[in-house]
Amino acid sequence: MSDQNVFFDYINEGYSTKGESITLGAAMLDGTAVTNALVKVPLKTMNRHGLIAGATGTGKTKTLQVLAENLSDAGVPVLLMDMKGDLSGIAQPSPGHPKIDERHEAIGIPFEAKNFPVEILSLSQQNGVRLRATVSEFGPVLISRILGVSETQAGIISILFKYCDDNKLPLLDLKDFKKILQYAMEEGKAEIAKEYGRISPASAGAILRKIVELEQQGGDLFFGEKSFDTDDLLRVDKNGRGYINIVRLTDIQDRPKLFSTFMLCLLAEIYSSFPEQGDSGRPELIIFIDEAHLIFKEASDALLDQIEAIVKLIRSKGVGLYFVTQNPTDVPDAVLSQLGLKVQHALRAFTAKDRKAIKLTAENYPLSDYYKTDEVLTSLGIGEALVSALNEKGIPTPLAATLLRAPMSRMDVLEDDELEDLLEGSKLIKKYNKEVDRESAYELLNEKIEKANEEEAKEKARKERESTKRSSSRRTSSRSRRSTRSPLEKVLTSPTVIRSVLGILSKMIK
Ligand SMILES: Nc1ncnc2c1ncn2[C@@H]1O[C@H](COP(=O)(O)OP(=O)(O)O)[C@@H](O)[C@H]1O
Ligand SMILES: [Mg+2]
Repeated sequence: MSDQNVFFDYINEGYSTKGESITLGAAMLDGTAVTNALVKVPLKTMNRHGLIAGATGTGKTKTLQVLAENLSDAGVPVLLMDMKGDLSGIAQPSPGHPKIDERHEAIGIPFEAKNFPVEILSLSQQNGVRLRATVSEFGPVLISRILGVSETQAGIISILFKYCDDNKLPLLDLKDFKKILQYAMEEGKAEIAKEYGRISPASAGAILRKIVELEQQGGDLFFGEKSFDTDDLLRVDKNGRGYINIVRLTDIQDRPKLFSTFMLCLLAEIYSSFPEQGDSGRPELIIFIDEAHLIFKEASDALLDQIEAIVKLIRSKGVGLYFVTQNPTDVPDAVLSQLGLKVQHALRAFTAKDRKAIKLTAENYPLSDYYKTDEVLTSLGIGEALVSALNEKGIPTPLAATLLRAPMSRMDVLEDDELEDLLEGSKLIKKYNKEVDRESAYELLNEKIEKANEEEAKEKARKERESTKRSSSRRTSSRSRRSTRSPLEKVLTSPTVIRSVLGILSKMIK
């Protein structure tokens, strides 16, 4: 048998599957694709997470697109974190290209152009289904982690959540959360101390500053109603194809802390709401995070720990996480060691540091008789990658330099009018994009304070009435109502002033 035939058998055996699978492309020997030596990933192990890495322009995003399309075809819904806004084209078929036909001929699978069911989601008001959740829903533990507060401060947050629960004060957005903190420091101090213990004003103040910091990064965008039901990520169209949900995050690129917070919130919500999944043989949802270095870049240690923990746990819910990034070293080791599928595009060796990174990356791949991994890493062409997956038994497949198939949908963004049409047809936009600001802790506490002030004023007036003549008492009464809080005090405690004062404070502290 020729080398090529031995290699063909080696790949076909190593990548054979009993159940459903996704074909990535054909394995290459000495730089040329071996037709029909297909590299396939079993659906069954797709919840074991993955990495798509490589230098800019080597084809990472297209690999993500190929995986998303094939998952959708297999009836698996997908969630894409689109940092650069370059994935909306999935909603339109590829126009095709002679080069694409050539590629597919070499691989041995016919090229088919088609579009996919797409839903666009967003953190801001425009251009997509709004993704939001209420502060109450996050709960005190997660909110504490998000804010990165100390243990003492986390204790206070728990007390305040309890107080709000007991008193039926819904915490919907950050405005509510700030209000309850202010209330605990001022008007409600005695009342809360009596029932729940004393709250140190210094700690409450520290929590307030953390909230303001989060707000300044735009964190208020994803707290509020109507909260997103993660079941809506699991939709399948009438032909049984999974929806590809694209979250447009172009406006969050320069705010990595907010992005990691958002990712943690979303993963925690998915983790808590999805049922535990047995060995069903297919994933429930696959999440791709493009430009994934951004979630790890500025995350605090506490947040990182939390992300690592959830990566480990979420697998059992049938959810697979795929990180797309330039260098594998962008991903923390604790996460890296949990990744089942690795698609490594070309790396560039410009500097000594690059060469070191390539050596390190090569060492993380299984040994192969057919490739010198570090050499292959620098010589791969565009749309080619080193692949290592997990077979259905969970054992790593043979390392395969792979000529990857092309996306069936458009490799470019939607035109404005195409996007408009898509948004217009969205059922979820109708469900989620109405502004609601129902009565919550903010309004209810304001009412309570107002009432207490009135009571106090009345009480004072009554006492004054008793000691003065009836004729003058009415005037005193109206004056005393106004004077229970001095005008200056009133201005200083108004929400807008507090917000701006704290804004200045938190800038000074940074
Ligand atoms: N699998 C593929 N099939 C066909 N063309 C590809 C493929 N992968 C990459 N390309 C080509 O390379 C370009 C860059 O790919 P892209 O995925 O955007 O790179 P990256 O995300 O790594 O920066 C694409 O616009 C496309 O023309
Ligand atoms: Mg890209």
